[in-house]
Amino acid sequence: MTIESTDTILVTGGAGFIGSNFVLGWIENLPGRIINLDKLTYAGNLHNLDAIAGNSRHIFIRGDICNPDLVEELLESYHPRAVVNLAAESHVDRSIHQPDEFARANVQGTLNLLEKSRRYWRKLSPSRRSGFRFLQVSSDEVYGSLGPREQPFSETAAVAPNSPYAASKAAADHFVRAWHHTYGLPTLTTNCSNNYGPFQLPEKLIPLMILNALEGRPLPVYGDGENIRDWIYVLDHCEGIRAVLRNGLPGETYNIGGRNERKNIDLVAIICDYLDELRPDPSIGRRKRLIEFVTDRPGHDRRYAINSSKIENALGWKPRTPFEEGIRKTIAWYLANDQWVEKARGSGYREWLELNYGNR
Ligand code: NAD
Ligand code: TYD
Repeated sequence: MTIESTDTILVTGGAGFIGSNFVLGWIENLPGRIINLDKLTYAGNLHNLDAIAGNSRHIFIRGDICNPDLVEELLESYHPRAVVNLAAESHVDRSIHQPDEFARANVQGTLNLLEKSRRYWRKLSPSRRSGFRFLQVSSDEVYGSLGPREQPFSETAAVAPNSPYAASKAAADHFVRAWHHTYGLPTLTTNCSNNYGPFQLPEKLIPLMILNALEGRPLPVYGDGENIRDWIYVLDHCEGIRAVLRNGLPGETYNIGGRNERKNIDLVAIICDYLDELRPDPSIGRRKRLIEFVTDRPGHDRRYAINSSKIENALGWKPRTPFEEGIRKTIAWYLANDQWVEKARGSGYREWLELNYGNR
């Protein structure tokens, strides 16, 4: 059956960290329907979407973005006005051990979505064709590493990925660019800095540190802890994606950042201090003493920082959540959602490393 709706969008990866925040925000605040295509890898969790369970405007499809028949069927059946691609393997540390899966999901998967979208798009009526958008959600990591005095990355910065993850995202971005340039597909690309907030798996820095610190476990800081990331609250990123989808110019790239550069060691110290205040525990004492400097990540990028002037000036978007507010909200969310945490914990990177590579 063909279901016609101009308001439908196809979102991929909508059961992951950013994807579920994006889907929840959309269904709760905007009209229209979301077709959510997610493979439910270790990083996907349908419980992230419990708040919209049973809502007929959210249709979840378990499947792989690399599957050409499935993607074609979804486009032809649901007639979306946009595809928003969030599905990816997303953890740099894992990409160092298993780059193949990153090439498959992030590059091959994006290529499949692009090609199926192109075939679908060119058969649309002229008005629907001009309104169609393919939005690629990408990363600031495609630009490589900044020196201490270099200016934050703008959209014209050289693409110079250093990790297998960043290389796979950069490759996908290049395909997106080519599908616009060669075929005219109305594409948009967003390159965002490090996100934090609810539903992030504790294999990434912030939730890992919150949960370990809460329980008095070691806080493993890579190298000297002086690496810098530009942190953005996940809902601000989602708002940026919506702004680009609504008013971004086809073929353009938009950088999205938090204007919030922090050294890892300072960030971990802030988390420790907040937890000491919110959940003092005499058996743990001051949590900063749990910090352990561990072997550095190979090829560890020193500094990321984003210049978001283009999206701010062209589309009126700005990061709205001050870091102190966002991190407090995030810590409060992890403290309040112990069932989610319990389930998520077993899917952490260190457990995965142990399972696949033995005790390293
Ligand atoms: P995540 O790992 O939490 O979620 C990824 C989701 O994609 C999961 O639900 C997973 O099941 C799904 N998925 C993976 N492979 C798939 C496949 N082949 N087919 C269908 N679904 C698949 O990742 P995230 O942190 O939410 O990141 C989402 C997107 O945003 C990614 O493209 C990532 O590169 C990008 N991004 C992330 C950040 C960040 O800080 N997390 C920053 C900038 C950009
Ligand atoms: P991460 O959350 O993995 O994001 P990304 O690698 O995409 O930036 O890591 C953020 C920073 O924290 C990065 O500099 C690596 C560092 N880090 C640690 O020091 N210890 C850890 O256990 C993890 C997971 C990350």
